[in-house]
Amino acid sequence: MNVLLLGASGRIGQRITNELLERGHEVTGVSRSGDIDGIDDPDFEAVAGDATDSDEIAELAEGHDVVASALGPSGEESVEILPEMAETLIEGLRQTDVDRFGWTGGAGGLNVGPDTQLVETDDFPDELVPLAEAHIDGFELILDVDDLQWSYVAPPAQIEPGERTGEYRTAEGQLVAGEGGESYISMEDFAIAFVDELENGDSIHTQLAVGY
Ligand SMILES: NC(=O)c1ccc[n+]([C@@H]2O[C@H](COP(=O)([O-])OP(=O)(O)OC[C@H]3O[C@@H](n4cnc5c(N)ncnc54)[C@H](OP(=O)(O)O)[C@@H]3O)[C@@H](O)[C@H]2O)c1
Repeated sequence: MNVLLLGASGRIGQRITNELLERGHEVTGVSRSGDIDGIDDPDFEAVAGDATDSDEIAELAEGHDVVASALGPSGEESVEILPEMAETLIEGLRQTDVDRFGWTGGAGGLNVGPDTQLVETDDFPDELVPLAEAHIDGFELILDVDDLQWSYVAPPAQIEPGERTGEYRTAEGQLVAGEGGESYISMEDFAIAFVDELENGDSIHTQLAVGY
């Protein structure tokens, strides 16, 4: 596949880039500066792009098989930029022949019980509520889209740099947690699950939760 990856300079984006390149795909990695450190591969090109500009996204996406996102509010950016970037991507792709995208989402909107989302639970950290709600707003925008082939891939409650083991489980709309309630995955294994979904498209139009 020839993949345009938005957020390629981010923590998860760098791992998705490595996973795609490892499997022989071509990657155009987008960051605002156009600089993406630490990737030296003939199948990788770093470009500058603003994920809040739909014309720019359309221009960048043209000629790719799929657009992937590991976008997030970096540094001092407001969390409100998340739904804005989701809307920009949708509007941008509608100007192109590219109809497939994968989106890295948030765990807060996943269900942990009947009619209860993770963000609504007592243990959910207060300081992460605005980010979780921004992810839910982004998901609701994506959920309304039926003319593009999207997969929304949500991490578990905890995701950190770690080992690439190849192990993971998935669930539709439901937080993936172990028997003791722990909900975790390494960023490397999340990248495997994300790229598996880009390759096989088993969960199109689905909120696909990933974890161990
Ligand atoms: N448990 C959870 O729910 C959970 C946990 C971790 C992460 N996540 C989500 O996963 C996503 C990725 O997380 P991360 O930790 O890898 O994020 P990160 O390291 O902060 O990376 C964010 C990426 O977004 C890009 N970006 C931001 N604004 C942009 C713009 N206007 N135009 C183009 N690119 C822009 C940044 O590029 P620049 O180089 O231009 O800044 C960077 O590549 C986020 O949405 C995050 O909230 C969820």
